[in-house]
Amino acid sequence: MDLDAFVAGMPKTELHVHLEGTLERDLLLRLAARNGVDVPIPEGGFTDLTSFLAQYYPAMRALVTEDDFFELAWAYLEKAASQHVVHAELFFDPQAHTGRGVPFPTVLGGYRRAILRAERELGVHADLILCFLRDLTAEHAMSTLMEALPFKAWIVGVGLDSDERGNPPAKFADVFARARAEGFQLTMHCDIDQPGSIEHIRSALLDIGVDRIDHGTNVVEDPALVAVLRERGVGLTCCPISNGFVTDDMKAQEIAALLRSGVKVTVASDDPAYFGGYVTENLLALAAAADLTRDELVQLQRNALEIAWLAPFRRDALL
Ligand code: HPA
Ligand code: ZN
Repeated sequence: MDLDAFVAGMPKTELHVHLEGTLERDLLLRLAARNGVDVPIPEGGFTDLTSFLAQYYPAMRALVTEDDFFELAWAYLEKAASQHVVHAELFFDPQAHTGRGVPFPTVLGGYRRAILRAERELGVHADLILCFLRDLTAEHAMSTLMEALPFKAWIVGVGLDSDERGNPPAKFADVFARARAEGFQLTMHCDIDQPGSIEHIRSALLDIGVDRIDHGTNVVEDPALVAVLRERGVGLTCCPISNGFVTDDMKAQEIAALLRSGVKVTVASDDPAYFGGYVTENLLALAAAADLTRDELVQLQRNALEIAWLAPFRRDALL
């Protein structure tokens, strides 16, 4: 069997995909027309996180009704099923919607309906991770967390995304402490090559006590922190194709080195509608760039299941 077929056929777990980042152009145009809203069409050409985010957030204005959020998540879940994803943990950015007048339950209700249907009809299991926008205030994040509490059963964890510059993990220490006390799992983006990357990784790990880190490959610069990742079993959700757009390369060597040193590295797609690759394409891109063996590709999937926020009975069934 050739490598493409091997990777395509592997059962997969995807732990770093933003639902709003799966908004493909066709759906964006259809929703914008249906809602009668004027939405800037993403043109690509991003060179860093800031230039990506500048196209990413305005495009979300196409999403207005509960059906819109349903259709977005359903389209992703159909794609995931076609790539043999068996479990996915899906980031969503409620503040990007509530901030323009879309009620929190509208967003969550649409996403939840798609997840329930996908489990029934596609055999894909999925959970939601609520991401706070780190360029907004900690108070705004806290009030969003309060809004989410009645829906706790539908949200497995919380994360932190958007513009990292000047928005360190410590800014959200109280929000994440409260989220932990409410029973949520914790993750945070530590985007690559940001000012203060290593300090952000250190703080996320040691001050906040996150369960996972999204991206975080700058950790290779600090062997003591790599050891902490290993000892605590804290995994990294890496997105090679996304890295190729928002940094100077895919960081394939760094990802492979961390994997080979025993860190629970896993590979995911981040914002596939913007970066042009779902999980299969990300695995193939990494395999080609870092010469991964089939055993290493299987290890990436095993890592993903091990660090997934799954009930033990589900994990056991999938491992
Ligand atoms: N980093 C920060 N914010 C984001 C990302 C990311 O990789 N993807 C979507 N929002
Ligand atoms: Zn991301």
